[in-house]
Amino acid sequence: MSDIIFLKSVDSTNSYLKSHIGEISDGTIVTAEEQTAGRGRLGHSWNGAAGMLPLSVAFVDPPEYETLTARMGLAVCDSIERTVPKIRKCGIKWTNDVIIANRKVCGILCESVRFCDKNFVICGIGVNISQNEEYFKEAGLPNAGSILSVSGENVGREVLLREIAEQAKSRAAMPFSECIEEYRSRLLNIGRQVRLISPNGERSAFAVDIAQNGALICRDENGVFQVNSGEVSVRGENGYI
Ligand code: BTN
Repeated sequence: MSDIIFLKSVDSTNSYLKSHIGEISDGTIVTAEEQTAGRGRLGHSWNGAAGMLPLSVAFVDPPEYETLTARMGLAVCDSIERTVPKIRKCGIKWTNDVIIANRKVCGILCESVRFCDKNFVICGIGVNISQNEEYFKEAGLPNAGSILSVSGENVGREVLLREIAEQAKSRAAMPFSECIEEYRSRLLNIGRQVRLISPNGERSAFAVDIAQNGALICRDENGVFQVNSGEVSVRGENGYI
């Protein structure tokens, strides 16, 4: 994997790689000290406070790209557990929100760009490292937390960055069939009643399992159906998870 591009300030690390698509190769990574216009899933914005580590990794023609986002969630879980001794197990809220002590500590946004007949997938990862509880309260993010706020530990920014770079590369090369058991064991939604929220409205269902293609298998009074990650936000019946 090529080395990491370090920027002082950028609008969005995902946007940076997309606008430099002709100059990047498989494994190019960019990070920044500050992100001024971070983007989240489903058109949301992503808060760019100084305690947040933004990075984006480019993959060119990755195999099974529909499960790449789930595999990046696993890469982040592994990385946090390896570098923060007090954090023993990270959970995942489908598809790839990394949850520790009921707080969302990391969000992931994967975007595809077609260029020169190749499929570039840009995986953007935002890890909250050191913001405090007060910060999230004031920002109106009651479900968010940072590694520091949930564990009391201050992990080095570059230590975590380099671990994620390593794990992301390794998970991108791994078939989902080899990851699915671990992914299932980390998923916090399985076996629970969930709310599926899309631009067309909200629907209640029971989350049964995960499919080989990474879709969430759900059941309601009309039967069993699959949900793909581009379509919906998933919430617990009575709360965030
Ligand atoms: C989410 O909505 O949960 C996904 C958030 C993804 C944020 C990261 S921060 C690095 C990269 N650059 C962006 O603009 N977004 C992603």
